[in-house]
Amino acid sequence: MSKLLVTGGAGFIGSNFVHYWLKIHPEDTVVNFDKLTYAGNLENLSDLKENPHHKFIKGDIANSDDVKGAMEGVDIVVNFAAESHVDRSIQDPAPFVLTNVVGTQVLLDNAKNAKVKRFHHVSTDEVFGALKLDSKEKFNEETKYNPNSPYAASKAASDHLVRAYYETYGLPITITNCSNNFGPFQYPEKLISLSITNLLEGDKVPVYGDGLYVRDWLYVEDHCSAIDLVLQKGKIGQTYCIGVDNDIPNIKVIRLILEALGFGEDKIEHVTDRPGHDRRYAIDAAKIKKELGWKPSFQFEEAINLTVKWYKENEKWWKSLRGKDYLEYYRKQYTQRRDQ
Ligand code: NAD
Ligand code: TYD
Repeated sequence: MSKLLVTGGAGFIGSNFVHYWLKIHPEDTVVNFDKLTYAGNLENLSDLKENPHHKFIKGDIANSDDVKGAMEGVDIVVNFAAESHVDRSIQDPAPFVLTNVVGTQVLLDNAKNAKVKRFHHVSTDEVFGALKLDSKEKFNEETKYNPNSPYAASKAASDHLVRAYYETYGLPITITNCSNNFGPFQYPEKLISLSITNLLEGDKVPVYGDGLYVRDWLYVEDHCSAIDLVLQKGKIGQTYCIGVDNDIPNIKVIRLILEALGFGEDKIEHVTDRPGHDRRYAIDAAKIKKELGWKPSFQFEEAINLTVKWYKENEKWWKSLRGKDYLEYYRKQYTQRRDQ
């Protein structure tokens, strides 16, 4: 029986992880610590209200007083809490440094003082920068860090701090760097969740630039199973890259979603490109597959269809997120730039 502190557990991947964990390890207890920013939503956890193995604490990972109490008696920390959207980091980098860098350091300090058995840090392949479209190269655990966006730079800094706490203080850490996730409970600002919800609202899908940017799309449940395995069998001090060889151009992803919803090409709208847009991400996941025996369970098209179905069946969930603040963000991100 373990006690986990899951930070950012009211967000997209964090809430999927909490559900996954309590299903697979029902004897464990999860303390879910989240600031409830625009991306955090207690509705993601509504089915756990009566579960005595889940306890929610509202708090900020950058505030040591908040973190200290939550860390009491904890065996394992899994850190998902972050500002996570590249476009928002371009609009305003400051919260990214505060949460992703300072917040991670505050968590590390408290985890060290509490002598936790494991500190697992959830990171991204974006720390490695961009690959060329015409190369076969992929990121792996040895790839040099070369972040390009303020988001990626803040995640890179957090990874370095996590490693430094292992080298300097012997904190038992592991890190995972994964590719783009999609699935239920994703806030409608990322490519797949935004495309589906826009189409369901009768709007178009905004495609940045030529639409030939490539990401390696990972279904969120496969990400959760990989983290589970790293917590069970991962070697202390090590990094594991998680990816599924779904290296697909954005335009192809969008066409699959259009098809799943019965729409045509007229729903595609090309808009001004993202500044500093990374051309291609791809991951070689040989290490986690060979050393830990991880295997993804979902095919891409099957997972896209499951995701589309989830958004169709959970209109109330995403419609309630598209309020005043969302529309203000959307206008700033899309309408203004289209008019330039
Ligand atoms: P998300 O934006 O959906 O959720 C982030 C959660 O963190 C929210 O619940 C938010 O309220 C919380 N949070 C933000 N600042 C906080 C703070 N200061 N203190 C406490 N809680 C705070 O993000 P996500 O997509 O679920 O990503 C989770 C993690 O996975 C992040 O660390 C992200 O960098 C990483 N990651 C995400 C992806 C992806 O495709 N979404 C890919 C690779 C890595
Ligand atoms: P995103 O989901 O923001 O993830 P990331 O930037 O972390 O990879 O974007 C995925 C890809 O989709 C990226 O190449 C940018 C592109 N994109 C669009 O073309 N239109 C959009 O509205 C969004 C949000 C993203």
